[in-house]
Order: sequence, then structure tokens, then C-alpha cells
Amino acid sequence: MTRFTDHFDLTLPLALAPMALASGGDLASACAQAGTLGLVGGGYGDLDWTSREYLIAVEAIGDDAAAMKRLGCGFISWKLAEDSNALNWLIDNHQPAAIMLSFGDPRPFSKQIIESGATLICQIHSLKDLPPAIEAGAKIIVAQGTEAGGHGATQNLGRGTFSFISETADWLATHAPETCLLGAGGIADGRGLAAALVLGADGVMMGSRFWATKECLANPQAKVIATQTDGDNTARSSVFDILRRKNWPESFDFRAIRNDLYRQWEDRIDVLRNNPQEGRAAYDDGVRQADFNRAHIGIGESAGMISNVPDAATLIGDIESEMKSALKQLNP
Ligand SMILES: Cc1cc2nc3c(=O)[nH]c(=O)nc-3n(C[C@H](O)[C@H](O)[C@H](O)COP(=O)(O)O)c2cc1C
Repeated sequence: MTRFTDHFDLTLPLALAPMALASGGDLASACAQAGTLGLVGGGYGDLDWTSREYLIAVEAIGDDAAAMKRLGCGFISWKLAEDSNALNWLIDNHQPAAIMLSFGDPRPFSKQIIESGATLICQIHSLKDLPPAIEAGAKIIVAQGTEAGGHGATQNLGRGTFSFISETADWLATHAPETCLLGAGGIADGRGLAAALVLGADGVMMGSRFWATKECLANPQAKVIATQTDGDNTARSSVFDILRRKNWPESFDFRAIRNDLYRQWEDRIDVLRNNPQEGRAAYDDGVRQADFNRAHIGIGESAGMISNVPDAATLIGDIESEMKSALKQLNP
């Protein structure tokens, strides 16, 4: 259907985002078996977590060779610069179809990835990220808009998904026409997938939508809360990174539901940064008690389009039907 589906023998131009601690082996393997690209969320590069979840995916896929060619893993580049053991383990012991790098310079790790035979995917947040990603050898670019759940560029540095897909498609057509493009950020159904294709993408990557599936490792109660909110009730800032003691570079921050604890600090981020003890104590207690008025739920603006918690295969089937009917409306 697109260059992206041809590359991985997919039945739908859709990829599961490698969501840290959420896209585990069950979810990645279910996506790969249902015909999409399934990326385990290697995230911060924790070797124990990544090796355990990747092996769960490999075992679930078993001898389904087609699905195995749709299984990969994603890592956070600035964290890999501190510790690349999980990436090394993956490359030394497996043959992932794809490895995705996000949030930082991909070039220090790209040679090793490409030499392993994996397809390099780079997530970008502005046009200036394109030349280094192409120089790194990315075969697939994920253009992530600030609507996205979880981490992304700050509102000042990032882009809205719609115009970002279009501009990135134009840039690639001129400078790197062999490179595929996926749109990401605020895309959670077949309409959004169809729209991204019309804008010039070869497919999309979804995070938030897959976060609210049965196989996702997130807390079940948090998933239900996510189905009851909307895009207005999410916001992007460094509040939860400070509360979680995550030392992210300042060009990135985090979109999550604006819960009570978030609202308490959103207009006083400098105060929180300089004096985080009180906020952290409340956050830690929220996590201990699974109280999501204080613990974070990291999903994006597409929350308003998420009203159920299906299994991944059912979701993928629904997205495919929605995409087909959206494309049919354009070309009856
Ligand atoms: C809970 C959560 C965790 C995420 N963790 C990562 C990550 O570890 N690495 C990464 O490259 N992207 C991560 N992302 C961002 C996704 O790659 C993707 O760009 C984003 O989810 C797309 O927007 P959407 O959430 O609107 O679908 C995460 C997203 C979410 C929702």
C-alpha cells in the first residue's frame, strides 16, 4: 500500500510507538502479529527491562517469520549516551527489524545499528533535526508534533503535527526521496491515518491510542481514566519530569493529563524546580497509592478520541476499517 508497508510487509501503514515501560513484549508482539510494526519501548535503556520484554515478544511470535520481521525496539538517544548496554544486548543477541532513536543526536549509535541489519528510524521534532537524521542513515523519519503524549519538543521548539508532516514530506522529496515518513502526535484513529497519508506521509506512529489497550503495561485504572478525559485536559511541560526526577535536556518536556498535582505546579514551575521536595513527596505518595490525581498519566491530545481499552488486534482492525472508509469518502 505504501513504501512503509512494503518495507516491513505490513497490512496497515501503522507503527506502535516504543513507549518506555508501556510498550512491552505482549503489546509489541500483538502489533507485529496483527500486521503493524511493533516496537518494544526500550526507553531509558534499562537492560533488565528491555531484555525481559524483548524476549517476551520473541517468544510470543515464535516461528511466525513474517511477524518477526515486524518486531523492533526504540531507545532514547541522550540516555544511550550514558549507557548503551541494552542496545548492545539487543544487537548482539537478536536481529530486530527496526531500531528507533528519539530525543537527541542519533549519529553516535547509527553505524552500529545499520551494520546490525536493522532499519534505522529517527524521530524528529523540527526541520532542523532532519539533516542529522539523514546523515545518520535513517530510512524512516517519524515527524512528531507537540500534540503527542509523553515526551516531545517543548511548545516553543516543536511543531503542530499537520503542517510538520507536510513540510517534512516536501523536504524529504527534495533532499532524501528514498526515506519514508511517518506522522505522529494526535493521531489515534483511521481518519488521522488517512489524513497523514494525504499530507504525504507513508504511514503513522501511534502512542497514546496503543497505551489504552489491554496489552499495554500501564495501570488498568489509569487506562480507564484516560478514556474519560479529552485533549483539553492534557498539557505539556516539565512538571512531571521534575516530580519524577528525570533529568531531561531542556528542549524536551512531557505531555500528560492535567491532574490535581499538575495544576498545583503548572504556573510555578521554577518554584518547583528550585524546591521540589514537597511536590515530589506528594507525587511519590500518589504513585504508591495508585492515586492518579497525583501520579501522572502520560497521554496526548488524542485522549478525546480514546473511549475504550480494546486488545491491540481489535484496535488495529478498527483503525483499518476507519482508514478505508475515510479514504473512500475522498474518492467515492
Ligand atoms: C506513555 C508514552 C511514552 C512514550 N515513551 C517514548 C519513548 O520512550 N521513546 C520514544 O521515542 N517515544 C516515546 N513516546 C512518544 C511516541 O514515540 C510518539 O511520538 C507519540 O506517542 C505519538 O503521539 P500520540 O501519543 O498522540 O500517538 C511516548 C509516548 C507515550 C504516550
